[in-house]
Amino acid sequence: MEIHKYEKLWFGLSLLLIVAFISTITYGAVGAGIQMVSDDGGTVEPSFDAINDHEKFEQQEDNRAIPIEGEDDAYEVAVVAQQFAFQPGTGEPIEVPENSEVTMYVTSPDVIHGLQVIDTNVNTMVIPGQVAEITIEFDEVDGDREEYGVVCNEFCGAGHEDMEGQLHVLSEDEWEGGE
Ligand code: CUA
Repeated sequence: MEIHKYEKLWFGLSLLLIVAFISTITYGAVGAGIQMVSDDGGTVEPSFDAINDHEKFEQQEDNRAIPIEGEDDAYEVAVVAQQFAFQPGTGEPIEVPENSEVTMYVTSPDVIHGLQVIDTNVNTMVIPGQVAEITIEFDEVDGDREEYGVVCNEFCGAGHEDMEGQLHVLSEDEWEGGE
């Protein structure tokens, strides 16, 4: 069968386009380091009592990330997003050490909220009854603590625009001094 020269050319070009599209999708999914929010955190009844009894939330007594036993430089922090504050985060900043990998668990006892740590990869919806799990890596800080803003980006009621907090990455000295 004879295929015309231009037919072949168009055929080749459209194949190339398909490869290009698949490449951009693959890059977006893998290369750019994008991570989906995990639902491995499980579920919890959306009430203060049930959340306070949950293993991740009951161990979070203050605003400091908690070392994960048996793992180097790994920490976890459990945050309750509620109308209209992050606990911890609002008032007192969430504190994490430099050079660490921090797993955040977030849930809500009332309505849907958001939790975004500005300038990081952390941005999740916070759904009552669901514990969102998300991991974030922090590098070395340059002298002073690094401060990140935390905002709610789902409309959650009259105080939505005031719902914000802070996450601070402390230098090793500062982190150990705070114990
Ligand atoms: Cu919480 Cu908006």
